[in-house]
Amino acid sequence: MRTTMAGFTSFPSLLLISSLLLASYGAACASKVQASVTIVDGLSWTFYNSSCPELESIVRTHLKTVFEKDIGQAAGLLRLHFHDCFVQGCDGSILLDGTDSDPSEKDASPNLTLRAKAFQIIEDLRELVHNTCGRVVSCADIVTVAARDSVYLAGGPEYSLPLGRRDGLTFASQETTVNSLPSSTSNASELVAGLANFNLNATDLVALSGAHTIGIGHCTSLTSRLYPTLDSTLDDTFADELLEICPDADSNSTTVLDIRTPNKFDNKYYINLVNRQGLFTSDQDLYMYNVTSDIVTSFALDEELFFDKFVDAMIKMGQLSVLTGEEGEIRANCSVANSDSTVKLTSAEGDQKETGSAYAV
Ligand code: HEM
Repeated sequence: MRTTMAGFTSFPSLLLISSLLLASYGAACASKVQASVTIVDGLSWTFYNSSCPELESIVRTHLKTVFEKDIGQAAGLLRLHFHDCFVQGCDGSILLDGTDSDPSEKDASPNLTLRAKAFQIIEDLRELVHNTCGRVVSCADIVTVAARDSVYLAGGPEYSLPLGRRDGLTFASQETTVNSLPSSTSNASELVAGLANFNLNATDLVALSGAHTIGIGHCTSLTSRLYPTLDSTLDDTFADELLEICPDADSNSTTVLDIRTPNKFDNKYYINLVNRQGLFTSDQDLYMYNVTSDIVTSFALDEELFFDKFVDAMIKMGQLSVLTGEEGEIRANCSVANSDSTVKLTSAEGDQKETGSAYAV
């Protein structure tokens, strides 16, 4: 068993942390959490109670079926919500298609590794929801609910969501998209500064990064840690494994973000970091940087604490620059703004007749 640079012996610590986890796990899963975060004007915990009471059960039921076939899709949907919210706010703009001459957010480099299937799942959900309720639920809200259910169905906390987002009419430029999303090569000090621009603090950063407890990454997101020089913060055995998976700087293979429990939403991500087995610089440096290190350790020791802070941070992130009330629109197709659609949407009355809802927009 190797000892890490700071004299940290990986295996015994893991055992200690694991037994502590067992004690807290049951309590963390027991009930639906309501975040202790201020809700912005226009969003509400009961937004669809009368206009679409079926919303959450439709999404939950469909995603259960999807994840039974492929739990990896949970990671894709969770990341989609993050990439929606950090670019121009949680307005569903990530879903919009561009053209060759006017590329959309989807076409920007950090978004090329979003899963194509995630976009399809959102559109399938929209269709199911609109077939039942009419065009009253936004794509931005569907992305938010799908992300929450991805966390829960992968084993994470269940929490209530403030809803009522409206869909944006436009997408951000390529430049804005690239500049708004953090890079896997950023260090923790840069990430703390970057997230402060979104009013997210160091605890939010560490908690949100815990989303990397599920899903995969491409070698291209981590090979700067391997070539030309091996990152000295990497655990030796883990480094050898990564060198095998990504044999040169241009390898295009993928690997799991959480080597312990890659498909389960738990706090093992933080145990990886404590053991220097974080995949990206942006992960591992959270443990190396004095401002965030103790937060990582506290989440590694206490899964319930991680879940609580994760829920608060997700609710905060989910409210970034949201459109509400009369702003934006409710898209009839998540990948196209209504004004660009060939489907005629001018008559709310027409929508009501078509869908049977009294609340069509
Ligand atoms: C804090 C800064 C963050 C950075 C630098 C970052 C970066 C990345 C990168 C580079 C990947 C892999 C892309 C690839 O190579 O295929 C990834 C995957 C992922 N990220 Fe993040 N991320 C961050 C925060 C977040 C947040 C806040 C969430 C959600 C709350 C999130 C959720 C995910 C998930 C679930 C995956 C796996 C996706 C899949 O399997 O399809 N990330 N992230």
